[in-house]
Amino acid sequence: MKKLLKKIDYNNIPHHVAIIMDGNGRWAEQRGKMRTFGHEKAIQSVKDTINGCKELGIPYITLYVFSSENWNRPKQEIDDLMHLFYKNLKINFEEIHEKNVKILIIGEVERFSEMIQKELFFFMKKTKYNTSGTLILALSYSAREEILRATKNIAEKIYNGLFSIKDINYSFFQNHLYTKNLPDVDLIIRTSGEQRISNFLLWQSAYAELYFTNILWPDFRKKDFFEAIINYQKRKRRFGNVE
Ligand code: IPE
Ligand code: IPE
Ligand code: MG
Repeated sequence: MKKLLKKIDYNNIPHHVAIIMDGNGRWAEQRGKMRTFGHEKAIQSVKDTINGCKELGIPYITLYVFSSENWNRPKQEIDDLMHLFYKNLKINFEEIHEKNVKILIIGEVERFSEMIQKELFFFMKKTKYNTSGTLILALSYSAREEILRATKNIAEKIYNGLFSIKDINYSFFQNHLYTKNLPDVDLIIRTSGEQRISNFLLWQSAYAELYFTNILWPDFRKKDFFEAIINYQKRKRRFGNVE
């Protein structure tokens, strides 16, 4: 680990890392277990990643916890996921708060049970003024839905005469997304070998670097996170310009 840390360039730390935590089901199936077993094992990977962010001073981390499309999974898996999510967030909340980390939730929060919604709002309220990092949890998240909601919201404001079409520019639009006030994504990490975005942060990752690893999410550890950051630091980001 020390060797790895030496390779990190602390002058080139990404501001915002987003992770598609994939492969829990396959991890469990490879062991002849139920898919939920993989989701349970994923908790340690989340902790490792959050700690890795903290050690490197990465200010924003977004975790893709549950997509809008994931509601199509069998009811039993959804129930297990909700239970695990609720239980672990509750258990680990104090630790996150003590680390001075702010929690933000993005997605269709209204689709969750009232009990979970209540808890989520409490976590956000309680950590609102924390300053040493922001943990963004994407829950029932769909980038297309986010963009649609922003569009409808803007259309309504224009219809009501609050703004004119001329007011719509990138920052105006961005301010109507769930991620208003958050910086663009610098790096997207996806585990499990799949190389796709699966409706994640489409607007925010316009110029993100993409990093794919075959490691299944329950096996993903802090050292793997550092490897991803080191790989990111070797990229030449041009943003359409010339070097
Ligand atoms: C990611 O692992 C967790 C969620 C999408 C909730 P998967 O459950 O997608 O695992 P695989 O991709 O089927 O292996
Ligand atoms: C994306 O993984 C969603 C999360 C990691 C929460 P999926 O496993 O749902 O994505 P697909 O179906 O492989 O594209
Ligand atoms: Mg998957």
